[in-house]
Amino acid sequence: MTPPAAPADAAAKPAARDPWDLPDVSALVIGVLGGTGDQGRGLAYRFARAGHKVIIGSRAEERAQAAAAELGLGVEGADNAECARRSDAVIVAVPWEGHAKTLQALREELAGKLVIDCVNPLGFDKKGAYALKPEEGSAAEQAAALLPESRVTAAFHHLSAVLLQDPEVAEIDTDVMVLGERRADTDLVQALTARIPGMRGVFAGRLRNAHQVESLVANLISVNRRYKAHAGLRVTDV
Ligand SMILES: NC(=O)c1ccc[n+]([C@@H]2O[C@H](COP(=O)([O-])OP(=O)(O)OC[C@H]3O[C@@H](n4cnc5c(N)ncnc54)[C@H](OP(=O)(O)O)[C@@H]3O)[C@@H](O)[C@H]2O)c1
Repeated sequence: MTPPAAPADAAAKPAARDPWDLPDVSALVIGVLGGTGDQGRGLAYRFARAGHKVIIGSRAEERAQAAAAELGLGVEGADNAECARRSDAVIVAVPWEGHAKTLQALREELAGKLVIDCVNPLGFDKKGAYALKPEEGSAAEQAAALLPESRVTAAFHHLSAVLLQDPEVAEIDTDVMVLGERRADTDLVQALTARIPGMRGVFAGRLRNAHQVESLVANLISVNRRYKAHAGLRVTDV
């Protein structure tokens, strides 16, 4: 029997891509450079809670081990180089001031790895937070320039480290904008995002558009200060 013809507009328009149709990433080992800080510790906690093997990195192995011991859940601590070497996906969670130097030193360890940059280059003065303009365009583009053999993506910029670290918070109610050059890599990052209850990863463009995403954090900080909130973001109609 001949199947019924598809409606004309369905034939003209390709099916929308389902943001939940993603690869299985449950076996990926996740490393967090600068994982002793608030953001890194929060992400480490959430991924460990989701069942991932997580390795916290630090400039000092003993600081990483102390932070890992506090978190429990099988989290391990190592110096940043060892963390990068042993992980499949490596989140960069160091301050902007230490970004270039940290990545330059890890070029070899990060070769071939999925790198997820969440660094927001921001300045602060008495008017509040404001976006800095990195020479390369953004922190993510600086990472891509310094790590030509890595698969650099950007995500997790808009999360509240306070919520991430709070064990009473069961779900993190936010979308995560995911940027990168290769769909296979951004799909992996979206899939990792979806491992954290409440979160959804949404593809938001190539790395040349990372500056706006990083800068938007200055606006979120203003929101948080005015409304005493830990604001997240939702992309509608996706
Ligand atoms: N906090 C948030 O809510 C949040 C949300 C989204 C994104 N982010 C981004 O995530 C990054 C980390 O934020 P954070 O609040 O966790 O920062 P942080 O606590 O100030 O720093 C994170 C860790 O980076 C290491 N570090 C400090 N200075 C360094 C340097 N000069 N070079 C290399 N490593 C250095 C430290 O670990 P060791 O001393 O153990 O090496 C520190 O514990 C930032 O780029 C931020 O923009 C933060």
